[in-house]
Amino acid sequence: METVLEVIERRSSTRDYYPDRLSKEELDTILKAGLLAPTARNEQELHLTVLDTGSEIVQEMCHDLDPERDPKFYYGAPTLIIVSGLDSFPWTSVDAGIAVENMHLASIGLGLGSVVIGCISRVMESEKKAHYDEALKLPEGYSFKVALAVGKMIKTKTPHEINFERDVTVL
Ligand SMILES: Cc1cc2nc3c(=O)[nH]c(=O)nc-3n(C[C@H](O)[C@H](O)[C@H](O)COP(=O)(O)O)c2cc1C
Repeated sequence: METVLEVIERRSSTRDYYPDRLSKEELDTILKAGLLAPTARNEQELHLTVLDTGSEIVQEMCHDLDPERDPKFYYGAPTLIIVSGLDSFPWTSVDAGIAVENMHLASIGLGLGSVVIGCISRVMESEKKAHYDEALKLPEGYSFKVALAVGKMIKTKTPHEINFERDVTVL
C-alpha cells in the first residue's frame, strides 16, 4: 500500500472518466475519509450528499450553469459528492476544504480519480438555492460549500509544478 506522502506526490485533478459506478466499499472508504477530517473545535458541522451524475438534479445543475452549452462539469465521472456545511459556524468553509481534500486523496489511494468542483456554487447559491437545498436534502442552516467528482479514471495528468522558493518562507 502507498504511503500518504506517495499519494500526495502523484495527486492531480482528473478530468476523464469511465462511467462505471464505484463499489460500495470504495464509496464508503471515500466518505469515511471525509468524515475523519479535522473540524474546528471538533464541531463536525459538515454533511456529505452522494449523487449519481446521471440524476435529474445533476443534469439540472448542468443546464442552470449554462442552458446553451449544458456543461458536464463532472467530466463524465459517475459520482458527485457534495460537501455542505453549517453557515453560522465561522470555520465551515475551511473544514469543508479539508474534508474534500481527504476524500480526493482517499480516492487516489484507492486507484480512482477525482476532481474538486467549486463551479456549481454559481447555481447552488443562485435564486434557485432553496430548490437545490431541498432537492439535496441539506440539513437546516446548511449550504453548499464544495464538491468532489469521482470515478474510475481513463487518464490523468502529471502533478503540477511547484515553486518552493517563491511560495515558502523559512525564518
Ligand atoms: C476550491 C476548488 C475548486 C475547484 N473547482 C473546480 C471546478 O469547478 N472545475 C474543475 O475542473 N476544477 C476545479 N478545481 C480543480 C483545480 O482547477 C485544480 O486543483 C488546479 O487546476 C490544480 O491542478 P491539480 O489539482 O491537478 O494540481 C477546483 C479546485 C479547488 C481547490
